[in-house]
Amino acid sequence: MTTQALGAEEVIRLNKEYTLFEWSSQAGYSPLPIDHAKGSVFWTTDGRRFLDFNSQLMSVNIGHGDERVITAIQEQAKKLTYANPYAASEPRGVLGQMLAEISPRGLKKSFFTNGGSEANENAIKMARMVSGKHKIIARYRSYHGGTAGSMTLTGDPRRWAAEPGIPGVVRVLDPYAYRCRFCESAGSCNLNCLNHVEDTIQFEGPDNIAAIIMETITGTNGIIIPTREYYRGLRQLCDKYKIFLILDEVMCGFGRTGKWFACEHYDISPDIMTVAKGLTSSYAPLGAAIVSEEIASYFDTHVLYAGLTYGGHALACAAGIACVNVYKEDNLIERAAAMGEFLAAEEDKLAAKHPSVGEVRHIGLFTIFELVKDRKTREPMAPFNASGKQMDVMNMIKKFFTDHGLFTFVRWNTFFVNPPLSISKDEIMEGLKIIDEALDIADEFVHAT
Ligand SMILES: Cc1ncc(COP(=O)(O)O)c(C=O)c1O
Repeated sequence: MTTQALGAEEVIRLNKEYTLFEWSSQAGYSPLPIDHAKGSVFWTTDGRRFLDFNSQLMSVNIGHGDERVITAIQEQAKKLTYANPYAASEPRGVLGQMLAEISPRGLKKSFFTNGGSEANENAIKMARMVSGKHKIIARYRSYHGGTAGSMTLTGDPRRWAAEPGIPGVVRVLDPYAYRCRFCESAGSCNLNCLNHVEDTIQFEGPDNIAAIIMETITGTNGIIIPTREYYRGLRQLCDKYKIFLILDEVMCGFGRTGKWFACEHYDISPDIMTVAKGLTSSYAPLGAAIVSEEIASYFDTHVLYAGLTYGGHALACAAGIACVNVYKEDNLIERAAAMGEFLAAEEDKLAAKHPSVGEVRHIGLFTIFELVKDRKTREPMAPFNASGKQMDVMNMIKKFFTDHGLFTFVRWNTFFVNPPLSISKDEIMEGLKIIDEALDIADEFVHAT
């Protein structure tokens, strides 16, 4: 233990007095003091046990405390903790090769970063440098990171405080079937969401647009799962107008959806894919922008104006290698697909039972419950960007989860179920039982019709 054995109250006091917490006003914020973790479970400093139904930040994909990754980090630390980013090192090269092997076809070289935001920053920088064009099309219901450029790419309200942001970002609406403005009726997709992207390309001028960036499956903003036609059409639009396709797989990559990468569900390859989170399962901070051979070869004769002190960090790359090996050794990608089917069937039962569930969306172990006050009108249980009293019902649900040892994210009218890929069926059922009871609370707020 590097820290002294402090009590929970003291841990919280130190954190609150000397550190700033993300996306929160600080005074009323009450963080969970997390002490240690194993598999799909973590414990707080005051000994409370929590089932981790969100893999922390949808990121500890292999589960907590895997000795193989811990040992790899320790072994690397004994040999070399850090080499400057101009140098070659074994972990950096080996991980680069491993990523080229598992990435969708055509993607070859990795530019390593500290996380997802920087991966997206560098992805759009490279797209702009190679294309000589400057505009980027992004979606509204999206999150791409907290740094200046990635924040501007982000569509959700976290962007507002950072505006005006970087120039050149243009936004389009999402292929969000449950609340679609394009389709004439629910369940009948007319692909006008895609036509709208093409219209936007026309209006902005194809010769000005360097790239389209999208989370392949939108994460925090609602596990939005586009159709196959949407992505195949989008790839065609990119080819037709010579626009690079950047797929942000920071959250949906590394087995989360039951494939190595979510774009495999659509049989498409991006020109750049950004990854982080599951790359090391958060055992160390690491991200990457993995680029096509075409983009990589441009930089054979042009300077790559990009760099980070911690690019290709030896400890992080060692963690990445070990982590990719764990996915392979434990067949975690196939396991996520199988467990995903099991989870989906159980979640569908809950949706059928509880009138407060408007929709449950799932792909692999990437799943969400969207709660409504009325199934017919789809009035959300809490409005878009809800805060304060608007969150009363959702906060009751959140409290119920916490009181019963279930950790997950509750956001506006949704909550997530994104457990580690190594979770067992018993653990899934343990968590779903708590959710079942929490949904009884939500049901009481459904309008009688
Ligand atoms: C889809 C997506 N892209 C980018 C990011 C930013 O990654 P990071 O927080 O590692 O910078 C996130 C983080 O949640 C994300 O979900």
